[in-house]
Amino acid sequence: MSIRVTQDGRLFHLQTKDSTYQMYADEKNILLHTYYGKKIGEENLADTIFFADVGFSGFPQEAQGDRTYSLDCLPQELPSSGVGDYRDGCIWLRHADGSMAADFRYAGYEIRHGAYRIPGMPALFDNEEESCETLVITMKEAASDVTVLLYYGVFERENVITRALRVENRGKTEVVLGECLSCCLDFQFGEYDLITFNGRHAMERMPERSRVGRMKLEVGSMRGTSSHQHNPAVILCETQATEDFGDCYGLCFVYSGNFIASAQMDQRGQTRVRMGIHPNQFSFCLKPGEAFDAPQVILSFSDGGLTKLSGQYHKILREHMCRGKYRRERRPVLINNWEATYFDFDEEKLLKIARQAAELGIEMLVLDDGWFGRREDDNSGLGDWIVNEKKLGGSLGSLAKKIHDMGMKFGLWFEPEMISEDSDLYRAHPDWAMQIPGRQPNRGRNQLVLDMGREDVREYLLERMTDILSHAPIDYVKWDANRSLCDIYSHVNRESGEVYHRYMLGVYDLLERLLERFPDILLEGCSGGGGRFDAAMLYYSPQIWCSDNTDAINRLSIQYGTSFFYPVSAVGAHVSAVPNHQTGRATSFRTRGHVALSGSFGYELDLNQVTEEEKETVKEQIREFHKYYELTHEGTYYRLSGPEGRFCAWEFVDEEKAHALLTLVMVSAEGNPLPVHTAVKGLDPAVRYRCSYNGAVHSGSGWMNGGLTLRNVPAEYESLLVEWEAVKE
Ligand code: DGJ
Repeated sequence: MSIRVTQDGRLFHLQTKDSTYQMYADEKNILLHTYYGKKIGEENLADTIFFADVGFSGFPQEAQGDRTYSLDCLPQELPSSGVGDYRDGCIWLRHADGSMAADFRYAGYEIRHGAYRIPGMPALFDNEEESCETLVITMKEAASDVTVLLYYGVFERENVITRALRVENRGKTEVVLGECLSCCLDFQFGEYDLITFNGRHAMERMPERSRVGRMKLEVGSMRGTSSHQHNPAVILCETQATEDFGDCYGLCFVYSGNFIASAQMDQRGQTRVRMGIHPNQFSFCLKPGEAFDAPQVILSFSDGGLTKLSGQYHKILREHMCRGKYRRERRPVLINNWEATYFDFDEEKLLKIARQAAELGIEMLVLDDGWFGRREDDNSGLGDWIVNEKKLGGSLGSLAKKIHDMGMKFGLWFEPEMISEDSDLYRAHPDWAMQIPGRQPNRGRNQLVLDMGREDVREYLLERMTDILSHAPIDYVKWDANRSLCDIYSHVNRESGEVYHRYMLGVYDLLERLLERFPDILLEGCSGGGGRFDAAMLYYSPQIWCSDNTDAINRLSIQYGTSFFYPVSAVGAHVSAVPNHQTGRATSFRTRGHVALSGSFGYELDLNQVTEEEKETVKEQIREFHKYYELTHEGTYYRLSGPEGRFCAWEFVDEEKAHALLTLVMVSAEGNPLPVHTAVKGLDPAVRYRCSYNGAVHSGSGWMNGGLTLRNVPAEYESLLVEWEAVKE
C-alpha cells in the first residue's frame, strides 16, 4: 500500500519506491505539508515546524491568541487567500456578497484503488499490471459551501505523485473562481535553484537555472498554448545539485494552455512553489452544483540528481501518458515534404519524393500543408478541409494508395484549430473565429483562431476530418497550430474569463473523439514546431514535432532542454537539407542523422537532390535507427555534457545494462586541440564491456571512472556513435 493514514485520519504518508510525501491535518484542521523527499518511515514530522511570533503575521481565530500559529508561516497543502496567508496562494473566490476570501479546513479523506481521471482533460493512467492508488482529501471552505477535493495519485514504482484539485460549489449562490492553481508545495528548509525551460519559436526549451530567493521567480504562458517561450515543467533542486547528485523535485503540468509556475522564498526563508492555470484573463463562474477541475501536476523526486529525475519522467510519460498502439509499436521512419517543397507541389513531385524514399527504406510519406481548399500560401484556405484534387491530380485516396503500393504508409497534415479570413468557412461563419466585436483582430501568420469552446465548431471539424480520414488510407496525422491566441471572445461563451480554458477543453474533446474514431492513427503534435510540447499533448500524440529548427547544432540545445522531462520517443527529429533553412549552416549528412536518431526519426528534404553517397548514408541511418530503437526509445538517457561546450554528448543504456550507445557531436574546433574526453555512465560496474570505438574491454567501473578518450579529435560539427556491449566471459 503506497498510501498510509493513521487511525485518527490525520497523518498521511504517500510512499513511492524512493520518496515520501507527508501531510498532517492538525487539531485546527489546517492541512500541513510536513515532508517531501527521500523515503522515510512513518514518523510524524510536524515537529519540524518552527513556531514563532512573527510580527505582522496574524493568527486565525482557532489559534485562540497563540501568536506563533500563523497561516502566513505554516507549510500548507492548500493555502488560504485573503485571510492571513500573504504569500501567493492557489485559489481566489468571489462570493455573492462581493467578498473575496478562501479559507480551507480539512474535513476527511478517501482512498481509491487506481489512478484518478479528470473530466475532459488528460491525466496519467494506470494499467492492469501497475499499481496506483489515489488519495482524495476533502477541504471545506470556512464560511461558504465551497468544497475542494485534493487529489493525490501515487505511482509507487515510478517515484511519481500526481496532484489535481476540484472546486465544488455545494451552496445556493453563485461563486466566482478568480484563480485556481493545481498545486502548491511548501519547503520549510533548504536553499534551492529553479530550472525553467525557455526560448522562442525555433529555439525552444533552453534551460535556465536561477537561485530562489525573496524575489519571485515566475514563468508562464498567456498565449493560450503552453508555448515556445516557456515550457510548463520546472525543476526545483538543491543549489549543489548536478546530473548525478542532489535532491531534485520536478513539477510537470498536464495542460497545453495558459500556465504559471513560480517559486519564492517567504520572509522566513521558506520556499513556496506553485503550478497551475495562469490567472491572467481567468475567472470561472460556478453556479450552485457546479464544479471546476484543475489540471494535473506530475511531481517526482530524485535524491540522485537530475538524470534520475529525467529518467522517472521519461518512464511515466512513455508508459502512463502516451496511449494507443504506438505507445509500444515502433514508429515508422518518415519523410515529410514540407522543407522539400513548401506549398509548391503536385502529384508528380510528391510521387518522385516518395519513390526515392521508398527505395532507400523510408517507411512513410507525410503530406504537409497545402493539400486542401485554396491554399497556395499561408494567407488562405485554413478551415476549408476539402481535398484540392486539382493540385493533387486526383483524389487523396488515389495518392495514398499509390504511396501504399510503394510499401510506405501515408500521413497527412491538418491545422484544425485555425481559420483564414480568405476561406469559405470564414465567409460562412465569421463568428466561429475568435475576435472581439468592434475591434480589429490581431493576425498571426495571417490567420485567426477558431473558437474551439464551441460545440458546432468541433462538430464541423470532426465531420470534415472524419470524411477525409475515412476516404483515404491514412496512417498518421500531423496536428499543427501556428499562432498564439489573443482577442479572446466567444459568441456563445460570453464569460471571457472562461474562454481560454474552454478552448483547451474543446481541443482535448476533439482530439479524443477523433482518436475514438481512428484509434490506430499515429498522431504527431505540432505547434510551429515545439509551441505545444507538453505532457498533455502526449496523451493524444505520442510524438511531437520538437522544433521548426532542424539545424543539427541548434537541435543539440533544443533536444538537450527537451530531455529534462520528455522521453526521446516523443521528440520528432528530422534530417533536413543544407544549408539549413533556418540557420544557413552546413553540417554533414551523418551528423544530421546522428542528432535526429535521438528522436522519432525522419527526413524533411528532397532525396532526389542528395548525392549517391548520401543516399547510402540514408540506408545506413535507417539501419541504425532500427538497430538502436530499443535503446533510444526505451533505454535510460544520460546527458553527458551540455550543448554549450566544445562537444555535446549523450548516452542510452538498456534496462539489462548489456548495451549502451553514446552520441558525440563536436560543437566547435580549435587549433592544437585538447583531448576530447567524455564521461560514460549507467553501466554495471562489475560487468566487462567492449567499446566499439577502440575495441578496448574494461569493466563497467573502469569505463565509468576512466571515461572514454577519443584518439582523434573530430572536426567541427562532425559526430560519432560509440557502442558498449557486455562481454560474455
Ligand atoms: C509549422 C510546422 O512546424 C511545419 O513543420 C509545417 O508543418 C508548417 N507549419 C506548415 O504550415
